[in-house]
Amino acid sequence: MSSSLPVGVFDSGVGGLSILEKIHQLHPRESILYVADSAFAPYGPKGDEFIIQRSRHLMDFYLSHQVKAVVVACNTATAAAVAQLREDYDLPIVGMEPALKPAALASSSGVIGVLATEGTLASDKFVDLKSRFDGDVEIITKPCSGLVEHIEQVVPDWQAINHLLKEYITPLLDKKVDTIVLGCTHYSFLTTQIKEIAGPDIAIVDTDDAVARRLGSVLEEKDLLKNDKVPGEITFYSSGDLSIQKKLISRCWGKEVNVLPL
Ligand code: DGL
Repeated sequence: MSSSLPVGVFDSGVGGLSILEKIHQLHPRESILYVADSAFAPYGPKGDEFIIQRSRHLMDFYLSHQVKAVVVACNTATAAAVAQLREDYDLPIVGMEPALKPAALASSSGVIGVLATEGTLASDKFVDLKSRFDGDVEIITKPCSGLVEHIEQVVPDWQAINHLLKEYITPLLDKKVDTIVLGCTHYSFLTTQIKEIAGPDIAIVDTDDAVARRLGSVLEEKDLLKNDKVPGEITFYSSGDLSIQKKLISRCWGKEVNVLPL
């Protein structure tokens, strides 16, 4: 496999752009094919079988476009599908999971909160992860139904978002959490609002950096890091309505981009 091939990064929608940004900062020479599976977002309430089927579809797309590795920039898809994808596809696949370990290490109150989709929190993968830290800290989880749908809007309804965030974060504050884990890549787009509601004493932890670093070490291990000086190109694809997706992805990416059909 050639190190000059691009890397695939996918999510149910725009959430994975937060990971893409970190990957692009850390590995600016890598070309990326970003796929937003927007026509099928949110994944959170859809169930494992559906998510595995969609993830396979996206992996087949990446195979036909010859990528050297894939990042599942979605906690929900990782929890539901990454084990199956690693069995079915013979290329490096980087997944992600809510950052319980750094949160547990950083917490001084001994109580941490996790905001994630219902799919992630109900998954065996998460239950197993949680059981590893349960004795060290108290972990309060909050499925955040409805948030992803709001973030997927070209013009988000910030009042409704703030209302939902207050509903989800207040019970965590009542339990005296000092750290909140963002267990869904979409929520990185709400960090400012979450900080405002949680207040200055609560640490907000995500996995965006860790995933970008993990991709680097996986590529390095396999001798697949791009070694020329040419800057990487980012190409955006979506399964959704392209005129809407162009506006949505441009808003979230922070500059005007073109979006191709999946
Ligand atoms: N951004 C995703 C995650 O990290 C998926 C959210 C969804 O589609 O429900 O879980």
